[in-house]
Amino acid sequence: MQRKRIIVDCDPGQDDAIALLMALGAPQRIDVLAVTCVAGNVPLRLTEWNARRVVELAGREDVPVHAGCGRPLLRSLRTAEHVHGETGLDGSGLPDPQMPLAGTHAVDAILAMLAAEPEGSVTLCPLGPLTNIALAMVKDPVTFARAKEIVLMGGAMDLGNVTPAAEFNFHVDPHAARIVFEFGLPITMMGLDVTHKVLVTDHRLDAVRAIGNRQAQAAHGMLEFYNRFDRDRERYGSDGAPLHDPCVIAWLLDASIFSGRDCHVGIETDSGSCMGRSVVDWWRSTDVPANAHVVSGVDEDAFFGLLEASLRAFP
Ligand code: BDR
Ligand code: CA
Repeated sequence: MQRKRIIVDCDPGQDDAIALLMALGAPQRIDVLAVTCVAGNVPLRLTEWNARRVVELAGREDVPVHAGCGRPLLRSLRTAEHVHGETGLDGSGLPDPQMPLAGTHAVDAILAMLAAEPEGSVTLCPLGPLTNIALAMVKDPVTFARAKEIVLMGGAMDLGNVTPAAEFNFHVDPHAARIVFEFGLPITMMGLDVTHKVLVTDHRLDAVRAIGNRQAQAAHGMLEFYNRFDRDRERYGSDGAPLHDPCVIAWLLDASIFSGRDCHVGIETDSGSCMGRSVVDWWRSTDVPANAHVVSGVDEDAFFGLLEASLRAFP
């Protein structure tokens, strides 16, 4: 199988960090060209700091980390320390990063990579608010159109997690999300409908700890914190916290463990109470052509098998 060449745009965040480890732990399947950071779960100075800590934990200082936008396009930034802790990566126990931040702004770095790589060869993997991705599309649509596809975490057909109607990443920067969905590249959307099926149960936490290497220890610490802090057992009545962002990497490793459907997704940017709502035409109530593959189902044991295999692969 050909290696997937990807750019991960993220706002770490424990689940972003697990996604990065999952990708960096599978170098024979996934080639991470760069990690670009955006403000989201915590402010930009922390997301880029956390991304460098995770890249170093993976022993992959050769992968550049770029800082991008420090706020959404139109709205002011809303963060999620109540889920991820003050640093965004509480529970990881990771040291300060030693590797430098790359000099180029994330938006320019994304465009430069898309210009340099063969057309149709690079997959964008956004795991946070879509500000960097939308700005790159607006700045240079011709170059952006050289990307192969976008596989993103965001949105929900069912209820939201930050408002009754909206998911966090789309709610934080709904205008960016709208630009991305209207751009025309193939999109795979991993929304809450699927991520809430991938739960960090006690049994799975134990399995991660048992792997025993440094990366798995840090992953265990992050997941334990995230599990405790996200209060999903009380909030959603579930057996553990949903592991959102790693679904994107699992899709790249083995799409056959997921199920979904092509449909049209609109992003609400007008209504106050539904700001950032993804309006998914699952039943094809309109004849508006599909602009995304919306994923709703997953074999969760197979998912955790992929995660454990990536963590085990680290020396
Ligand atoms: C998304 O919001 C963030 O808190 C997570 O990192 C994930 O990307 C889930 O709604
Ligand atoms: Ca995220």
